[in-house]
Amino acid sequence: KQGKKDRAFKIYGLARDFYHFLLTKEIGIGAIRYLESRNLTDKTRETFELGFAPLGWDSLTGFLTAKGISGEELTKLGLVQKKESGGYYDRFRNRIMFPIWDNQGRVVGFGGRTMGEDNPKYLNSPEGEYFNKGQLLYGLHIARKGIREQGYAVLMEGYMDVVSTYQHGVTNAVASLGTAFTRDQGKILMMYTHDVVIAYDADTAGIKAATRAADILQELGCQVRIATIVGAKDPDEYIQSHGLEGWQSIIDHAMPLVQYKLLQAAQKHGLQNAGAKQRILREVLPNLASVASAIELEETVKQAATVLQVNWETVLEEIKKYKRNSR
Ligand code: CTP
Ligand code: MN
Ligand code: MN
Ligand code: MN
Ligand code: MN
Repeated sequence: KQGKKDRAFKIYGLARDFYHFLLTKEIGIGAIRYLESRNLTDKTRETFELGFAPLGWDSLTGFLTAKGISGEELTKLGLVQKKESGGYYDRFRNRIMFPIWDNQGRVVGFGGRTMGEDNPKYLNSPEGEYFNKGQLLYGLHIARKGIREQGYAVLMEGYMDVVSTYQHGVTNAVASLGTAFTRDQGKILMMYTHDVVIAYDADTAGIKAATRAADILQELGCQVRIATIVGAKDPDEYIQSHGLEGWQSIIDHAMPLVQYKLLQAAQKHGLQNAGAKQRILREVLPNLASVASAIELEETVKQAATVLQVNWETVLEEIKKYKRNSR
């Protein structure tokens, strides 16, 4: 069993090496140009082991089968696909390749980005024995050190965000590989820190997903803040125009989850009367009830009271009531 696993990691490693090597070749010039157009340096290409999958149908297939690895096995690993007529062809073609590692830094799959307008924009390895999106955090083995040093982690949506912000000095970011953050991912992240800033994209999908991810993390006992990216689509775009200093101010202005939700609810319901305040408070009661630390709870209760313009004792009373009723 272990032997089979090691063999899989070895094959993914060979694929990574193959794609990465092609960036240094004539055939990879278009890919290098694309990466340059995204302002990524060669050092970044090395750190994140970026690569290029050529347009041909059997580039990787040919390379790996020549090493004695069967098309059948490569199909199981999600690297090639079986033709109806028999034979195999490369899954990833004409794409920038991002290796995706498990938490120990072993390659377990890939994300491939089109350099043009192809659909899908990102093609990932299929879900399988080794590649489970819901249990992977992109870049974790690289960000581990930065998370430890800075005492918190930043959670982003995409590989590009992690790669690009790392280049600018943000060394504590990981990506959830899209917007569907899972409890498993939360548990993994919390093996490294109990303090997370969520910096998802500024679009509606990102905002919705940020609150969902935040709820999951808070329920697991994590301290969560939500960053708001202003004037840019995502962390990559933002840091390109505002640099590390600008990024730091985004982090400094990130809002504790409860406060974030209160302000959103206050915008929705208004604060005119007791009924509106009651509705607003109801939206955050589950969060208030699950705040793990007493100090954080006291602070959060006070913040809530300020937003609602009521006494903090009132908020505390409502939390107690909520806890009694939800038992
Ligand atoms: N994603 C995906 N499949 C897609 C689109 C997105 O798997 N068709 C996942 C990828 O993990 C991607 C993340 O969602 O990294 C974020 O998507 P998006 O915001 O659309 O991409 P960006 O990170 O902004 O990439 P780029 O700047 O290159 O467009
Ligand atoms: Mn290299
Ligand atoms: Mn997005
Ligand atoms: Mn994005
Ligand atoms: Mn982007």
